[in-house]
Amino acid sequence: MSIATQNPQVKFYSGENIPLELHKVRIVQKLHLVPIERRLEALKEGGFNTFQLNTYDVFLDMLTDSGTNAMSDNQLASMMQADDAYAGSQSFFRLQKAVEDVLGKKYYLPVHQGRAAENILGKAYIKKGSFIPMNYHFTTAMAHITEYGGQIAELLYPEAYVISSSHPFKGNMNIEVLDAYIQEKGKENIPYIRMEASTNLIGGQPFSIQNLRDVRTVADKYGIRLVLDASLLGENAYLVKQREEEFKNSSMGEIIKEMTGLADLVYFSARKLSSSRGGGICTNSEVIYKELEVLVPLFEGFLTYGGISTREIEAMAVGLYETLDETIISQSPAFIKYIVDKAAESGIPMITPPGVLGAHVDAMKFCSHIPQTQYPAGALAAAFFLISGVRGMERGSVSNQRDENGNETYADMELLRLAVPRRVFTLSQVTYVVDRLKWLYDNRELIGGLKFVYEPPVLRFFMGKLAPISDWPEKLMTKFRQDFGDSL
Ligand code: F0G
Repeated sequence: MSIATQNPQVKFYSGENIPLELHKVRIVQKLHLVPIERRLEALKEGGFNTFQLNTYDVFLDMLTDSGTNAMSDNQLASMMQADDAYAGSQSFFRLQKAVEDVLGKKYYLPVHQGRAAENILGKAYIKKGSFIPMNYHFTTAMAHITEYGGQIAELLYPEAYVISSSHPFKGNMNIEVLDAYIQEKGKENIPYIRMEASTNLIGGQPFSIQNLRDVRTVADKYGIRLVLDASLLGENAYLVKQREEEFKNSSMGEIIKEMTGLADLVYFSARKLSSSRGGGICTNSEVIYKELEVLVPLFEGFLTYGGISTREIEAMAVGLYETLDETIISQSPAFIKYIVDKAAESGIPMITPPGVLGAHVDAMKFCSHIPQTQYPAGALAAAFFLISGVRGMERGSVSNQRDENGNETYADMELLRLAVPRRVFTLSQVTYVVDRLKWLYDNRELIGGLKFVYEPPVLRFFMGKLAPISDWPEKLMTKFRQDFGDSL
């Protein structure tokens, strides 16, 4: 397979900064833009939680990039050669080779998705009294660590929490604090240090390779394993190329291997990394491999499929090679940048610099009249769906979990995440997103708060149901009709 490593930037004669699509659309799916009256009903049926919507009612699905990136012609074609065997499938060996070629790790354990890897790591390494330092948590990573009795510590630099910033690497681990934390908790209580590529919950912000090297130095000093969550590694690597001087002339492959080479163990959600479904854990350490190997047949499936269909295994192998192609990996960050720049021009508070995965709206500022106790990011996600049919995701206090005493914990940031899966949307569609966002910003005083009416004990944001604290959704709908007439 030929891998393009050229810089995919295309300049326009007009001087306009337009992210040109370097792919063509050959399979299409019809979308539904249902009237606002139906969208209000759908919200009520779904407990004002965008996870609970039926996609029939959704126009642009910007909930996540997980399992929703567009698949390539080569990925789809590869699925036809899937070798359905319980054990020893040729599809698996093709994937194993792709993992070694792209991620540079010779031992690979398949798991059905990213959180399954987190479960296996938790089962193998975490017990009551374990501490896991990390740059920032992801919801499922934290849920598994706490489920096994461990505690997390987020050790970012203060700049990570600055919403409007020009810092290129807000996902960097605070090295001095990491060292002090290990001394305080004792290296024997720290089974591993976790680095998340493109810290999801603070706006898809990358770390630099220099920072990862510094984390490695600390890990070596204390003899602690370094675990890399590589779910968003491709885009992190792309931003390293853009923003870290040392790597401006490196290929994606070189950058990716530099990062994975610094980690003892790499795990990932293939739903993101390779635009497929599935996941994996990989390492060059036979010891680590042996420690984890036994858990795969127990929780996932035999070692040559790990709960993933053989078709997806084939697509995953091709998708991994495609993460080396900048024309593919640059597309989502380029669209995100376009949305963020256009929204910011209109004064809409966005996380900057633009990161990966999605454009992130600062709900704390957008809805400064809504207290955190009334979930401003959840309210903004519901309001935005109501007035546009665009489904984003709450990434704020609703996505947080209660502490061990059952008390509410409030998120560092209240964000509406508008995910931009790879090569799914067109420029006119994202222009619509910015247009509706602008209208909502001008009418933001009409948005009100939410309260929980059903709150499950674990990962409450998935199944939880909320209700508006007043009739604000009706008022917002009335204003929409006044301004847009009978427009959808
Ligand atoms: N790690 C990171 C950094 C993730 O973003 C995700 C998933 C996971 C682990 C878990 O992987 O879903 O395959 O079990 N993120 C998705 C999201 C769900 O919408 O951001 P999974």
